[in-house]
Amino acid sequence: MVVLDAVHQIQAEQAGDLAVRWNCKAGKCGSCSAEINGMPKLMCMTRLNALPLDRPLTVEPMKAFPHMKDLVTDVSWNYEVKKRIPKFQPRQPDAPDGTWRIAQEDVERVQEFRKCIECYLCQDVCHVLRDHHMHEQFIGPRFLVYAAALEMHPLDVGDRVADLRKQFGIGLCNITKCCTKVCPESITITDNAIIPLKERVVDRFFDPLSKLFRVFSNSKR
Ligand code: SF4
Ligand code: F3S
Ligand code: FES
Repeated sequence: MVVLDAVHQIQAEQAGDLAVRWNCKAGKCGSCSAEINGMPKLMCMTRLNALPLDRPLTVEPMKAFPHMKDLVTDVSWNYEVKKRIPKFQPRQPDAPDGTWRIAQEDVERVQEFRKCIECYLCQDVCHVLRDHHMHEQFIGPRFLVYAAALEMHPLDVGDRVADLRKQFGIGLCNITKCCTKVCPESITITDNAIIPLKERVVDRFFDPLSKLFRVFSNSKR
């Protein structure tokens, strides 16, 4: 039995109006995020027998977003953030038939970022959003992963580096790695997405040599 089953049992037997969001029951839709004994987790993937049952179990809504009812929070802020990130912009095709040529290792580099199920558990645990409520200044780890998937995409020629620094607040991340620890898809959020993006920002704005290189090479980095 998983925590979501227990919540459904309570809903069926004791509290018919208990509000809970879920969909796939398979860890893939990202709907059933909650805080179980204070830890951000998917309710459908957390087995009761893996938890200490000799004391009461707590299941609470995510704290980084406005509370709606019972276990449901309003995560719509995330959808608005996503709209602000410049979209995929492919370079010109490599062949006359309109196709591209990409090295397999370049494909693999961004593959892990695409596993994200948008559960927002990483957003929930990040202190910049959870404790400091800097939703206006910081897009959070989920959207740094999204920006990394675009920035590191072998075909993309879009440029999000200035936005990452100014509008998206990447400097507010102080690499606590709490986001990486809670990701149910085991995405290496901090090391593989955030740190490389921070390096791009540093190269662009604080390294005069790379600045010069960019001017002459016309590179987006
Ligand atoms: Fe959830 Fe991981 Fe995606 Fe964050 S990066 S929203 S924790 S799947
Ligand atoms: Fe937050 Fe993750 Fe950085 S938890 S501070 S985005 S490493
Ligand atoms: Fe879909 Fe839990 S119900 S991830």
